[in-house]
Amino acid sequence: MRKITMVKKLLASGEPCAKCVQAQELLERRGLWDRIDEVVWAKEGDASSPGAQLAERYQVELAPFFVITDPGQPDRVLTSTLKLVQELGAAAGSAGNGAAAGPPPELSEAELREAQAQLASAPPAEILSWALRRYGARCGIAFSGAEDVVLIDLAARSGLPYSVFCLDTGRLHEETYRFLDRVRAFYGVELQIMTPQPEPLQALVRKKGLFSFFEDGHGECCGIRKVEPLKRALAPLYAWASGQRRDQSPTRTDVAVLELDKSFSGAGGKLLKLNPLAAWTSAQVWEYIRREKVPYNSLHDHGFISIGCQPCTRPIRPGEHERAARWWWEDATQRECGLHVKKA
Ligand code: ADX
Ligand code: SF4
Repeated sequence: MRKITMVKKLLASGEPCAKCVQAQELLERRGLWDRIDEVVWAKEGDASSPGAQLAERYQVELAPFFVITDPGQPDRVLTSTLKLVQELGAAAGSAGNGAAAGPPPELSEAELREAQAQLASAPPAEILSWALRRYGARCGIAFSGAEDVVLIDLAARSGLPYSVFCLDTGRLHEETYRFLDRVRAFYGVELQIMTPQPEPLQALVRKKGLFSFFEDGHGECCGIRKVEPLKRALAPLYAWASGQRRDQSPTRTDVAVLELDKSFSGAGGKLLKLNPLAAWTSAQVWEYIRREKVPYNSLHDHGFISIGCQPCTRPIRPGEHERAARWWWEDATQRECGLHVKKA
């Protein structure tokens, strides 16, 4: 049986080294800590400590590191916790939970109805895990760089394989780009960054300039910068999860927890769409972020609630609904960018 030994460093002060603590935290966040079979300490200044001996044997200079022993194979040493996370995540993905090469079994209409009934009032973690168990990394989390980070936190804690994509419109706030990078490192997750196709974008900007949405509405720009990249992101997937909530907008009061996406298509005939946070309020999301110490976009500390592109988002004013901060020059019933259109 495979055995994974983690070597940690104990400083002369008796404290574990900070990098080793972070490595353990990352493994815990990803639900992979119980995959470590043994922890061995390398004591600073003590060449005879078991960890120091392993470092000597495998010619490694830095803790933390991981020794992986598989029967009949040479031992392997990983000095990167991220690499270990990816390797364990990939291994989980091939264990028959939908991230394997073949297509997942198709969901019949009866099974879909059953799942909808079962998940309708389930907690977000259970809703997301249902999809990840079935589709693994072929269920993509659509991450906008706002409070939907909760979805990534839930996925990471599930210990199941998952994937994340972001639609980089080219017009996001600097703070959002920084946040994406922070999330990437914090959870040890690859972000699939989707950018717009250059030709239609260049044609739009050439013809109408960089702020055409203030003149003739956001539809055209969102179509090029968000919706088309979304279609490409969804093409290889069987399911996707968005951070939509019913309390976010008058256009979202009937958001379903699980539905067939009739607007976009994925790798199979059917594309499922999950909105695990549908029933949560903004207050519940923030309670979770604070309680679980989830990293968040620094714009939220500056009056921003709903966050989209920089020119089309503003902080909210006292008493305003969060959606008032998006495309504020347009009618409240039109404030959807096309990612979440509903076809009957
Ligand atoms: S939007 O349609 O008005 O832009 P909103 O900002 O409320 O959507 O976000 C709702 C959900 O749509 C997010 O939680 C996320 O799942 C998805 N989403 C929105 N913008 C993006 C983006 N730039 N990249 C990835 N997903 C996004
Ligand atoms: Fe363009 Fe504004 Fe839509 Fe972003 S939100 S894609 S800048 S119209």
